[in-house]
Amino acid sequence: MGKSSTHINFILGLILCISIVTLVVAEAHQEERMVYKDPKKHVETRVKDLLKRMTLAEKLGQMTQIERVNATAEVMKKYAIGSVLSGGGSVPQVNASAEEWIELVNRIQKGSLSSRLGIPMIYGIDAVHGNNNVYKATIFPHNVGLGVTRDPELVKRIGAATALEVRATGIPYAFAPCIAVCRDPRWGRCYESYSEDPKIVQKMTSIIDGLQGVAPANSRGYPYVDGKLKVAACAKHFVGDGGTVKGINENNTVIDWEGLLKIHMPGYLPAIKKGVATVMASYSSWNGIKMHANHHLLTSFLKGRLGFKGFVISDWQGIDRITSPPHANYTNSVETSVNSGVDMIMGPYNYEEVINTLTELVHKKAIPMSRIDDAVTRILRVKFAMGLFEHPLADTSLVKQLGSKAHRELAREGVRKSLVVLKNGKHEKKPVLPLPKKAKKILVAGTHADNLAYQCGGWTISWQGENGNNYTTGITILKAIEATVDKDTKVVYKENPEKSSLKKHDYSYAIVVVGELPYAETNGDSLNLTIPKPGPEIIKNVCHHIKCVVVLISGRPVVIEPYLKKMDALVAAWLPGSEGQGVADVLFGDYAATGKLARTWFKRVDQLPMNVGDKHYDPLFPFGFGITTKVAKKDE
Ligand code: BGC
Ligand code: BGC
Repeated sequence: MGKSSTHINFILGLILCISIVTLVVAEAHQEERMVYKDPKKHVETRVKDLLKRMTLAEKLGQMTQIERVNATAEVMKKYAIGSVLSGGGSVPQVNASAEEWIELVNRIQKGSLSSRLGIPMIYGIDAVHGNNNVYKATIFPHNVGLGVTRDPELVKRIGAATALEVRATGIPYAFAPCIAVCRDPRWGRCYESYSEDPKIVQKMTSIIDGLQGVAPANSRGYPYVDGKLKVAACAKHFVGDGGTVKGINENNTVIDWEGLLKIHMPGYLPAIKKGVATVMASYSSWNGIKMHANHHLLTSFLKGRLGFKGFVISDWQGIDRITSPPHANYTNSVETSVNSGVDMIMGPYNYEEVINTLTELVHKKAIPMSRIDDAVTRILRVKFAMGLFEHPLADTSLVKQLGSKAHRELAREGVRKSLVVLKNGKHEKKPVLPLPKKAKKILVAGTHADNLAYQCGGWTISWQGENGNNYTTGITILKAIEATVDKDTKVVYKENPEKSSLKKHDYSYAIVVVGELPYAETNGDSLNLTIPKPGPEIIKNVCHHIKCVVVLISGRPVVIEPYLKKMDALVAAWLPGSEGQGVADVLFGDYAATGKLARTWFKRVDQLPMNVGDKHYDPLFPFGFGITTKVAKKDE
């Protein structure tokens, strides 16, 4: 080899070395400048860095939430969509497993990650009593029952279990809790409310500690979600949703400012202090102004005075409903709501229209760029704070949390503590409860005795709820009774027994389980609050002949006074969910009944609205009422 070729080799080598070094340095520089990708940087620093890289289109994409059915990877990438939701009952397929949910969420997420800036989307779902859309999830009692427990620590544990079951399906965001203060049981969403008493609702915001983890004391409204085992929560529906006239859903709440602060606002104070990540605007109006269009409340008060630093999400087509008929003047509605303080728009189907309308409004300067930047800042803040950039994809290690034994035990405890015994024996000295496990023959009757879907109510598997035992797993009250009584006790089950078949001496006693049929939202609005047929007839027939305990399954107090005399005992079980064993635990005295009404039980609907503290207060059972029963001795 000649001298000159060595020379050339040396020069080539040098050039190569220099290029590599330059490349590495350039790369490092680039990385260093991608501040938003650096988990060691402060959340606010990351938000600022990312925001300044974003185009208008990318910002508006972040403000848009679309329904799962539209969320192809292509759509996610093309529009840089910020969020996806499952509406009530919107599932990847019937009886989808946790793995199939994860596949869905990850597929959508990969679309988002492949967008220019790779901003992860946040997937949200209505986990309002457990991860209730999901097959085989633990279904906890609805809030109306949890308020009865007066046990914030239990509710916190339920929040933690729910977070795990939501994460088990790859989802990091729950549209819960509903902190409505239901002031009129004619409202179809009364069961989503813990109580008519704002103090109880305030206490039950402990569920946020369970869902998100416990925020540091000094976080002052800053969103807090403690990692991969927790989920972002959503305090809803801001504000006054439970105060509408006659309990008409999405209607007008007529109350002065002091009243609003005293009754409907208190739940939001601890919720924000606990770092609730998001707040959902209410469909309802306050004194005639739609909450989705209320700048004073959404911006000046919630974000200003209360210092809420997470994002405000609209309700499902809530923006469309600002103008009537819905969707009448969409441009106007979008302008008003975003300028009023809505940060994320729950589309859920018309995302192109949402984005086009927003674009036009920004170009026209009808929505200032500062408002858009504020909205996107809030959305990104939640995403960074919860670690979504570091862990955008779900892993399968949590799937076993779904419907776990431990969670079902917890739900059963919740059921036990949520029962309210309203009557126990025709004579005080002769209590009927606890019932003896040992008896010759007992009758179990009623439409709700062996119907898992009925005992779960609305927002279970589907939006409106189901009918029967084939939709998910759990224990019906009948099965629980059979599992609890002595092995020699004969249990006869008749859903709707013929009058002629009922003879006094045939049965030691009867348990009648009747109540409301499942419903959600407006479909649940009811002006008469009667128990649907054949419930009342079953009570009358059975209780006429046999010593009877009536277990009532309902989302609220219903008309019961006309039948009360006939009953020997009455237990309000609300909407207990999948673990019916909790009902039997108390009926047979393995545990005492301790629940106290968190709602006033009216005599007649013409008394409504009637709440504790009212001047004219003449209830059938007052707020706070509840008979404590005894624990049975071992061999009873
Ligand atoms: C309800 C919300 C719910 C949303 C998404 C709306 O109709 O009012 O409570 O979170 O739908 O399903
Ligand atoms: C959705 C629910 C939503 C409701 C609002 C339904 O179609 O499934 O999630 O709350 O519409 O009207």
